[in-house]
Amino acid sequence: MSNPAQSSSPDPLAQLVQKNQFVGWLGAADYTRALVLTSDAWKARAHGVPHNCFLLAAAEGGAAAEILLLRVTGSAEAPADAELLAKLDKLKSRPPIGGGEVTIEEYQFGLLQCRVLGTFYLQDGKLRLGSDVENFTQAAGLAVFRPEGAALEAIVNYVSPARVAAAAEEARRLGLQGELPRFPIGTVRYASTERLHRGEGAARAVFHLNAVDFLARRTAVFGMTRTGKSNTVKKLVSVVKRTSDDFKLKIGQIIYDLNGEYANANQQDQGSIAEVFPAATVRYRMVPTPGFALILNNFFRQISEGHSTLAGLLQASKLPRSADLEAFLSMDFTPPNKEECSSDYEFQRQTAMYQLKLAAYQAVLARAGYELPPDFKITFEVNPGIRNKVNPSVDPANGLTAPQAFEWFYLVRQIQDELITTTGASWIEPDTNVLINLLLQKNDQGGYFPGFRLLQPFKDYHAPNRSTDVCDEIYNHLVNGKIVILDLSVGDPVQRERLGKRIARHIFHSSMATFNRGLHAPHIVVYVEEAHNLIGRTEALTEIWPTIAKEGAKARIAMVYATQEVSSIHPNILANTENILVSHLNNQHEIGELARYYDFGDFAESLIRAQDIGFARVKTLSNPFVIPVQIDKFDPEKEKNPVAVG
Ligand SMILES: Nc1ncnc2c1ncn2[C@@H]1O[C@H](COP(=O)(O)OP(=O)(O)OP(=O)(O)O)[C@@H](O)[C@H]1O
Ligand SMILES: [Mg+2]
Repeated sequence: MSNPAQSSSPDPLAQLVQKNQFVGWLGAADYTRALVLTSDAWKARAHGVPHNCFLLAAAEGGAAAEILLLRVTGSAEAPADAELLAKLDKLKSRPPIGGGEVTIEEYQFGLLQCRVLGTFYLQDGKLRLGSDVENFTQAAGLAVFRPEGAALEAIVNYVSPARVAAAAEEARRLGLQGELPRFPIGTVRYASTERLHRGEGAARAVFHLNAVDFLARRTAVFGMTRTGKSNTVKKLVSVVKRTSDDFKLKIGQIIYDLNGEYANANQQDQGSIAEVFPAATVRYRMVPTPGFALILNNFFRQISEGHSTLAGLLQASKLPRSADLEAFLSMDFTPPNKEECSSDYEFQRQTAMYQLKLAAYQAVLARAGYELPPDFKITFEVNPGIRNKVNPSVDPANGLTAPQAFEWFYLVRQIQDELITTTGASWIEPDTNVLINLLLQKNDQGGYFPGFRLLQPFKDYHAPNRSTDVCDEIYNHLVNGKIVILDLSVGDPVQRERLGKRIARHIFHSSMATFNRGLHAPHIVVYVEEAHNLIGRTEALTEIWPTIAKEGAKARIAMVYATQEVSSIHPNILANTENILVSHLNNQHEIGELARYYDFGDFAESLIRAQDIGFARVKTLSNPFVIPVQIDKFDPEKEKNPVAVG
């Protein structure tokens, strides 16, 4: 895993200059632009000079003190300035670097318009890149090269010493030794046509995403449909997993998989994450499926959560509303809080009432066919006076089976009017009364109504074998560095969204709590697709998804979001996104939005024109400029037997 950009070996500046990659002479330059004289013969020998490619301008021969980094932005007409013309003419007859004939045919010459990206120089033996030019008067006459292979790798993977130091500091805190993790995700690609610059004999340059840019940061993946957004996400999940294993740094990853493409539930669909990392992947679904854990909760144990799920489903089902159904929908199952009670006695009274309400609710669930968890009994305390009045033969404190509980509440209803507390109030509270109505299918007027049957259609949302809250379970997996895939391709859409949010909220709050205690929160990466639905421009920034996007970094939560349109994302979040990967966009409006960030404007033309899959323009936190990259294809067969890269 050597990184030429970070090494201080012989002369990293001289190593950037590849003599066989000579393409011409610098005719003129100012702070922002440069004009390069080139010839067809020189270009051909250097495997072409595609639009948007990087060029380096260095002093001819000897050790250069500095090298200009340029990007080709177009061709240029012969200048009107006579002095410049004369200068260019003189350059034409100079012998080319690296040998070869002097070009003589006038028509073979051409001019390239370039943007000046910065200046490479040495400081304390290390390569540095300043994002401007200090002195351009000497620039004319510099030899220009198109870097490839190792030199190009050094350029595109350049990280400033200040960032390296900051990252090393962060790594030390994490207990990491040696060089910092980087994720190889693709190779430099300039243009749609790959015959020359990526063709036979051309040395490709691997592009890495630095872990320190990625972890606890925001990464956006944009592009039209079918241009490789999901592939990029898969590639990221895979390299993060691999690197975290190599560096023994636990990084939990959770994918909100809207189309089931990461989970691979069906056999024809090849290429899933689950298939490549079977031991490290945990898959969740909302309906029982072999190989998947249930995202759902146990309604007998996670009471409030289960009730909210049912209430949401009932609300969505648009059933006619009876008074009892309305009352059920608005019930609150929060247990009594001692601090809020005026006395111990009051707390005990409330607890007893709460237990009774819970028992009635559980009896309704059981009556509706919700399977009781193994060895589960409906259990509650009743004072002996009432117990003897209702049914002296059983003590609910020892636990009741579902039929026993049904019978118990049936008997309660027979003598309900006689059940008075010591203060003279009815012993049955209104909520409990409603639940008994549901259980016995009789409303307060004694009329029949469907009662518990209303709950029957939603039995699949209950997970009888789960003993812990699914959110806790998922968070634990993440803390242990697992890949969690939430396959949200099946199940009720309203519930999917609600559960998805609930899990996100739990992750955020758990990690924030750790952070607020002054401890290191675990590294977690959250991947979301169709991000415009979660962090869209109209979304309130107080909602959980925008909150994670804005504040998750504090608690070491990284967010990777994918969507088709740049303009659909909340501007505030986009402005704070450290890494942006964009493939083909099809309209000027989107290009315009993007061009407001960094030097994406340079790629406006190519982003609209090139529809190549996986051809991304990438800006990362460490890179001072945008780099065009062909993202590697996530190939399950290769992924299963990885060759060491980097
Ligand atoms: N870098 C790549 N190299 C080669 N093939 C790729 C690459 N990226 C994606 N593909 C292939 O292109 C197809 C579309 O890719 P993908 O599903 O990632 O696109 P997408 O942008 O997520 O599309 P959608 O908008 O429909 O979600 C897939 O068959 C995928 O295997
Ligand atoms: Mg996709």
